[in-house]
Amino acid sequence: MEAVMAPTIPPRISLIGFMGSGKSTVGPLLAQKIGYSFLDLDDLIEERCGRTITEIFSQEGEPKFRLLETEALYSLSHGKRLVIAAGGGAAVQAANRTFFRNDSFTVYLEVSFEEFKRRTGRDPARPLLKMPQKDLRELFETRLSYYKKLGRRVITDGRSPQQITGEILALLGRR
Ligand code: S3P
Repeated sequence: MEAVMAPTIPPRISLIGFMGSGKSTVGPLLAQKIGYSFLDLDDLIEERCGRTITEIFSQEGEPKFRLLETEALYSLSHGKRLVIAAGGGAAVQAANRTFFRNDSFTVYLEVSFEEFKRRTGRDPARPLLKMPQKDLRELFETRLSYYKKLGRRVITDGRSPQQITGEILALLGRR
């Protein structure tokens, strides 16, 4: 009888999507299911420069944050057995898009604008939430096309983290 082999899981799995799409909630669940380590890119940036995301934004501005984000992301390009939760803006930078396209299996967690607002509220740890609503909506719309092109889409509205994890496992051929 022929042995049935489980498909090999890529060494790096990245979760992309707007703020509040569930990357940092689903990431650890997924990692645990497949025996990978979970890494939140924002946490890694904070660790690498000894400051919070809010401090980096207010002291050095967003462009500097984006540089640090790219550096942190590429520090993982040879990492093995990693589930990476990327910040909501990571998929927009050209260099990062190369990473998501070539260096990882990338999953796009889709969230509606209304659900994003419900999930994030006025979280002070997310500096971009201070933007006027109109600009935030525009940012949301602009980013959608990047996310869609880079990752396998998984809908998150109305779904539990466990259901979302199950869908990703199916994409990986593990269900
Ligand atoms: C950002 C999202 C945040 C964080 C930073 C910028 C963005 O991560 O990287 O505040 O540009 O959307 P989350 O998506 O994990 O909230």
